[in-house]
Formats: sequence, C-alpha cells, structure tokens
Amino acid sequence: MFVWQRWAVASCVTLLWLGRVSFGVPDPARREQLLRDEASRQTGGKMSLSIAEQKLNSHLHKLKLQEMSATKFPPAMHFFSAKPLIQNSPVYKLIQKMPKGAALHIHSTSMVSVEWLVKNVTYRPHCYICFTWDNSVRFLFSDKQPFPRWDCLYWQLLEALRARIGDPTRFDDSLMQHLTLFTEDPEREYPNQNVVWEKFEKAFIAAAGLITHAPVLRDYIYKGLEELYYDNIMYLELRSGLSRTYELDGTIHDKVWTLKVFQEVTQMFVQDHPDFLGARIIISAHRALGVSEVKTVVKEAIQLQKDFPDVVAGFDIVGREDDGRTLWFFREALSLPAQLGATLPFFFHAGETDDEGSDVDQNILDALLFNTSRIGHGYAIAHHPLAKELSRKRNIAVELCPISNQVLKLVSDLRNHPAVVLMSEGHPLVISSDDPSLFGTSGLSYDFYQAFVGIGGLKANLGTLKELASNSIRYSSLPTNLKNKLHDMWLEKWDLFIANNS
Ligand SMILES: *[C@@H]1O[C@H](CO)[C@@H](O)[C@H](O)[C@H]1NC(C)=O
Ligand SMILES: *[C@@H]1O[C@H](CO)[C@@H](O)[C@H](O)[C@H]1NC(C)=O
Ligand SMILES: [Zn+2]
Repeated sequence: MFVWQRWAVASCVTLLWLGRVSFGVPDPARREQLLRDEASRQTGGKMSLSIAEQKLNSHLHKLKLQEMSATKFPPAMHFFSAKPLIQNSPVYKLIQKMPKGAALHIHSTSMVSVEWLVKNVTYRPHCYICFTWDNSVRFLFSDKQPFPRWDCLYWQLLEALRARIGDPTRFDDSLMQHLTLFTEDPEREYPNQNVVWEKFEKAFIAAAGLITHAPVLRDYIYKGLEELYYDNIMYLELRSGLSRTYELDGTIHDKVWTLKVFQEVTQMFVQDHPDFLGARIIISAHRALGVSEVKTVVKEAIQLQKDFPDVVAGFDIVGREDDGRTLWFFREALSLPAQLGATLPFFFHAGETDDEGSDVDQNILDALLFNTSRIGHGYAIAHHPLAKELSRKRNIAVELCPISNQVLKLVSDLRNHPAVVLMSEGHPLVISSDDPSLFGTSGLSYDFYQAFVGIGGLKANLGTLKELASNSIRYSSLPTNLKNKLHDMWLEKWDLFIANNS
C-alpha cells in the first residue's frame, strides 16, 4: 500500500512535470474514436440524422434517461405488470406515433384484441358455447342446437346463458380470460414454460370457433388490419394455417376460399385506407403433424403460391419448438419445393428455446440450410456463432418478438435478452409482436418500446428506431417495386413524424 501510494505520488509529480497526460493513460482521443466505432456497429449506428432528427434524438435520450432512473423499470418487469407503466411512458407515446413500417411476424389467430371478440363477436346471434372438462371453452355458430362432440357434450346458446347470468360484465371478463394469457398475477399463474404454453394452446383453440365462422372471419381480418393501421403500421405478413371456415348451416369452405376472403378483405381495407399497402400470408403447418401431412401442406402451399402470387409469401412450421418436431424431422417435406423445381420461400420459426444443445436447438442451423428468408425469434442464435455468421452474411433477418419471449418465459428481465448482442453488432433484425391478443398488446409499439428501451439500452437512439422500421420493409417478402413503393410511403410519413415531434 505504502509503496503504491509513493509510486502514485511520484507519477503525479512526473505528470505535472511533463505538463500533460503521458504513458500509462490511454489517449482520450483514441478512446473517443473507439467508442464511436463501436457505437457505429449497432443497429442504426451508421444512420446519419438530419438536424430535426438530432433534435428529437436528444429529447428521446433525455426521456429514456428519466425512464431508466425511475424505481420501476418496465423492461425488467413482467409485461403484464409493466403494461400500465409503458402506457404512461412518454417514450412509448412517441413510438406509437412513429411510422413503424411492417409487421412481419404475427399469427392469424391472435391478431385482434379479445375485447372485440367477446364484446362484439360473442354477442352475435346463433353463438353457442360449451365448457370443456379441462376448464376451457368452445364456441360455435349454428342455426340449430349443435350436436355433442368428444370435447363438448353440452352446447348452450350464449344469448340465453347471458340472460340467465345476472352480471354480464363479469361473465364477459371470464370469457376474455379464456382467450388471452393476460392476467394480474402472471408469476403465480404461470410458474413455468409448460403451464404457460398449455394455456397458450387452449386459448388458440377457444378462439378458433369464433374466428373460423365465415362472416366473422371477414370482420376479423378487417379489424386486425385496423389495429395495425392505428399503430402506424403499413403492411403485414401474417402466418396462417388457412383453417377451413364454416357457415351457420354447417357448410365448410376450403383453404382457397379462406385465402380469397383474405385477399378481398385486404383489398377493401386498402381502398378505405390508401396509405396502407396490403398484407400477405405465410402458410403455416403445425409441427404436431406428421411428415406426410406436412408434405401435403407444402404441395398445397406451392400451388397456392402459384395461383395467388400477390397474397402468398411462403411457408413456415409453427407450434412450440421445445416439445415439437424439429425442422430436420420434416426434411423430406421441406426439400419438396427444390425437388419439384418450385419456389416456395421459407420463413421458419427457429431457436425459440432455452435448451441449448438439444435437437430443437439445431433448428436455426437447419432453417439456414433450407435457405430460410427470415428467422422467427432466433432466440438461441447467440449460442450458434456459425449460424449467426451465415445469417448475417446472407442478410437473413431475425424476427425479434421481445414480449412473446418474456411472457412465454424464455427470459424475464429483457435487458438479458440475447438480442442485446444482435442489436449491439447491427445484426439484420426486425421487431414484431407474435401473438398480440394473447399477450394483451396491439400493433408493434409495445415490442418496439421493449426493444428500444430494454434490449437496446441507453445507446439505442432514433437511428436505431429508424433502421428497425426501415428493416421491416427491406426484409419483407415484397417484390422490389413494391418494396420501393412502401419505403417511399413510409419515408414520407417518417419525415412528417419528425417535423411534428422535433
Ligand atoms: C361488431 O363489429 C362489426 C364489424 O367491425 C361492426 O360493424 C358492428 O357494428 C359491431 N357491433 C357491435 C355491437 O359493436
Ligand atoms: C439453398 O440454396 C443453395 C444456394 O443457392 C442451393 O445450392 C441449395 O440447393 C438450396 N437448398 C434448398 C434446400 O433449397
Ligand atoms: Zn410465432
């Protein structure tokens, strides 16, 4: 200690004597340069900002500082508890107003808020409900009393049930609980991944009876696009299994019919909202299916893509990766397009897991081997340097869905999300919401907030947001001419957003 102090005193004297910083102390200018170089690697780090953008950027920085020094920091909390705080956050309010480009990872069964499903759809005539043995519900529209099914012995007309029950508000709340994961006490209700996934799949099945009713489907798609539009989103790529839809008399429509409805409703929506570009479908098969069933779906998807090239973007395999079949398991089905000389772009979910080294954990590399166009979640990519390198080199974006990853319990504090690395090194990245109605979100703003404030940290800036929004267009499946058109439309809105907020 004594020796050290003497040395310190001595070197201070030396410094004074030299009159300036010298050996031992790194050159501050070089340090500045390194910090700048490093920052330039992050998402949006090379974006040059206009004077107006710089002004908004420093305002945003101040707001973020305040948010980070508050006692409760939303990205560190469970989203269900953080949601009211986020709603009051000035950063969030700015993000809401920001034109965010495209939503590239949303599932069709969860694109509209459950509030609307319950308050609007279940109030329509001829809606029957049944309570299942495993504490879930089924809905069915029918012009006569439905027959009992294996999962549903007793169907009740909802209108009559509501009339009998005194408190319709409480009843409706209980219905909503069946259709969403959202709850006041997530830590207690969802102690682990298995429990939360079980509830997740139940909610999907419960909603299906409402959504796949043909007249509801039209309103549902329109409403879903509207929710995105109100959140300043201009284009959607929707994962959908194109479920069969049914009429009141039991008539069943096939996938082509459903696809045509999607096309018609989208066209109608664009007519009503000319500053919305449109929507396309990524046809999805569930990983619970067998290889031959997936082969059938792949062949169908190839045909549908040929017949509806404007609407069908490609193909994906969905469902929980951790207890489902791997991409490699489906290799024969997934090689069909190449074998048949057909083009069917893939948009695989891959690496939505914490189980490093498991078979499931190989999905990312397999997705890349099958030439995926984007990687859904890619949560495990940090464990796979080679896959990360490949995805970067081939410009294959990771679809980051922060709230989904947290609610489904891959990570709790979003500052620890592996995408912190991806954002720091400017890996191709887009932000999406996965299953908005199940998580109690709407549009992309909540997920943008989490990515910007939690994952990006203090160094993520307006350039980061701008790049993420523009990425959503760049990495979309749109042909170049439409990409350019969408980018121009978006840029016009972006400039307006800057002008109004700086
Ligand atoms: C239900 O939604 C449809 C379509 O969005 C709308 O036309 C209708 O007015 C709504 N009904 C109620 C009761 O809110
Ligand atoms: C992926 O792309 C590479 C290079 O274009 C090609 O050689 C390969 O056959 C493709 N693989 C599949 C499964 O389509
Ligand atoms: Zn998903």
